[in-house]
Amino acid sequence: MAKFVAGLEDVIALESSICLVDGTHGKLYYRGYSIEELAAHSTFEETAYLLWFGELPTSFQLKDVEDSLLDNREFPGEVLDIIRDFPPTATPMEVLRTVVSALSSFDRNACYFSREADLCKTMRLTAQIPVAVAAHHRIRSGLPVMTPRAELGHAANFLYMLQGIEPDAVSARAFDVALVLHADHELNASTFAARVSAGTLADMYSSITSAIGTLAGPLHGGANQQVMQMLEEIGDMARVEEYVDRTLKEKKRVMGFGHRVYDTTDPRAEVLRQLSQEVGASKGDLRWFEISEKIRETVWRKKQLYPNVDFYSASLYHVLGIPHDLFTPVFAISRIAGWTAHVLEQYANNRLIRPRAEYVGPRNRQYVPIDDRGEYPVLPELRDQESPQEGTQTQ
Ligand code: COA
Repeated sequence: MAKFVAGLEDVIALESSICLVDGTHGKLYYRGYSIEELAAHSTFEETAYLLWFGELPTSFQLKDVEDSLLDNREFPGEVLDIIRDFPPTATPMEVLRTVVSALSSFDRNACYFSREADLCKTMRLTAQIPVAVAAHHRIRSGLPVMTPRAELGHAANFLYMLQGIEPDAVSARAFDVALVLHADHELNASTFAARVSAGTLADMYSSITSAIGTLAGPLHGGANQQVMQMLEEIGDMARVEEYVDRTLKEKKRVMGFGHRVYDTTDPRAEVLRQLSQEVGASKGDLRWFEISEKIRETVWRKKQLYPNVDFYSASLYHVLGIPHDLFTPVFAISRIAGWTAHVLEQYANNRLIRPRAEYVGPRNRQYVPIDDRGEYPVLPELRDQESPQEGTQTQ
C-alpha cells in the first residue's frame, strides 16, 4: 500500500491544466499566463473566461461572458427571503453556504448534467455570489438591497451593491485586481473539496457548497479576517515586536504568514502589498499598511516566514471599506471562478477521488456484551455555549 503522507503534502492527486504554482520560485500562472501579467492587464471577467475556457477571450467572447454575468445578476426573490430570515447572529459565511445550496432549487438547469448546463450554472453562481454577499450585508444592516448597475463591471458592481455608492476608479481597479489574484490556486483545500464532490458526479451546486464550507476555516480563507483582527489588536507600530514575540513564544500562528506550497514569497502578496499602499494613500489612511509592513519585517527577522495572499488583502479590503467579516466571502466571490473551472475539468475527465487511510486502531477485538463492559465514565453534561470561545469562531 502507498506511503502515508500527513495532510497529503506534496502528493499529486490529479492532473490539471488550469493553474501552476511554482512554490520554489514564487511564481503563479493561470493557464500559462503569469499572475503579474494578469494583474497588470486583465479584469476578473477576462481571467474567469481564461480559467473556464483555457484561452484569453477575443473582444466578442469577452463581451459574451460579461453580458452573461450581467444577465445572471438577477437574484431569485425567494432566496432573498431566505436571507432575510437568518437571525442577526448568522455569519456571512454561514449565509453564503446556505444561499448557494438554495440557489440550486431556483436554477432550471440544476437537474441537467451537460457541459452547456454546467457552464450556465458557472455563470449564474459567479454572478450571484457577489449579489448574495452584498444583499445579506445590506439586510443585516437595515439598509435597502441595491439593484445591480448594468454599466458597472463585476468588481465595481459588488462594491456599489455593498456600499450603495459607486466606487472611485482607484478602488474599483484595486478590487478587480484582488479578484484576479484570488481566482484560482491549484489544488488548495476548498478546490480539492469541490473536486472530491464533483468526482462523485454530485452537481455543481453541491460541489461549490462543499468548497465554501472548506474555505471558511482559519487555516484557509478565514485567515484574512483574522489578519485584520491581529492588526486591530496590535493597533500601533510600537506594539508589533511584543505581539510577534508573544505569538511565537506561545507557539501560535501569526495569521497571514507561511504557506504549504511556497518556499519563498507568495507572488500574490507582492501585488496586494502594492495595492494596499496605493489605496491606503488614496484614502489618506496608511496606518494599516504601515503596521503590516512592520509585522512583515518582524516575522521575517524572527521566524523567516513570508506573507501569504491573506496578509495584505486584509489591510486592502479594510481601506476599501469592506466589513471585516466579509473578507472570507469576498475570497469566495473571486475563487468561484477557479472552483467552477476545476469542477468542469473534473467532469470532463472524471475519476472518483477516493484515497485510503492507514488504519492505526486496535485489531481483532472480541465483541463484549453490554452488561460485561464494567463502569465507564459518564459523558460530561453538554450545554450550549454562552458565546463563541476565542479562536473557534472565525467569521
Ligand atoms: N506563524 C508562525 N509559525 C508558522 C506559521 C505562522 N503563520 N506558519 C508556519 N509556521 C511554522 C510552524 O510552526 C512550523 O515551525 P517549526 O518547524 O518550528 O515547528 C513551520 O513553520 C512549518 O509549519 P507547518 O505547520 O508544517 O506548515 P503547513 O504547511 O502545515 O502550514 C499554513 C501552512 C498555511 C496552514 C500555516 O503556514 C499557517 O497556519 N499559516 C497561518 C494561517 C494562514 O495565513 N493561512 C492562509 C494560507 S494562504
